[in-house]
Amino acid sequence: MLSRGLWRGRPEQQKPYPLSDPFFMGFYLYLFFSLGAILFLLVVIFAFGLPYFKGAPYATTTKTKARQAVSLLASRMKKGRVADLGSGGGRLVIALAQQGYRAHGYEINPFLIFFSRKRLKKYRLDNRAGISRKNYWREDLSGYQGIVVFGVFYIMPQLEEKLKQELKPGAVVISNYFQFPDWKPAEKKNGLYVYIR
Ligand SMILES: C[S@@+](CC[C@H](N)C(=O)[O-])C[C@H]1O[C@@H](n2cnc3c(N)ncnc32)[C@H](O)[C@@H]1O
Repeated sequence: MLSRGLWRGRPEQQKPYPLSDPFFMGFYLYLFFSLGAILFLLVVIFAFGLPYFKGAPYATTTKTKARQAVSLLASRMKKGRVADLGSGGGRLVIALAQQGYRAHGYEINPFLIFFSRKRLKKYRLDNRAGISRKNYWREDLSGYQGIVVFGVFYIMPQLEEKLKQELKPGAVVISNYFQFPDWKPAEKKNGLYVYIR
């Protein structure tokens, strides 16, 4: 009986409050909106707050551009390990793995990590591609022959230094939209910049 609601009145007149009582409805609404607000806040913090201090906020490369980026890479490098610095929803990692590269994404947003790992499984690419919950600034990138990045203008000087220091000669870097300040691109196409270390 208790499971049908709270009890009210003296024991001899006790009747349960129905769960549809305005008190409960108000409580449900309060709970619903509070949880919604917390979730919204978390999404905003992870999508825009954290990346602001660590890299670029979330935005996705379009399907067409992802295809173009992979074919630009393929014209200079046939196979090997490629990292996406800030892999977001995993579109580039998926496109790279479909092309036959061993692709790895670094991402700090736990929601995007969850969804992109699910997508890798869905496309059965999880054996040749992966996503790490890691800050790429703290990673040694010397084992990659290719790098793709959709960053933001304020990270480009520091990223240029890091890539020049860590990548081996011949490594290919493709940057979507943003250019490095001092590194001359070997090729430019539809807002994609190709750099050779
Ligand atoms: C502009 S989005 C690019 C997403 C994806 N590469 C694409 O092109 O569709 C940048 C991503 O980098 C992630 N990010 C920012 N700083 C990062 C860092 N230091 N380490 C790992 N990921 C980072 C953000 O969470 C965001 O998802």
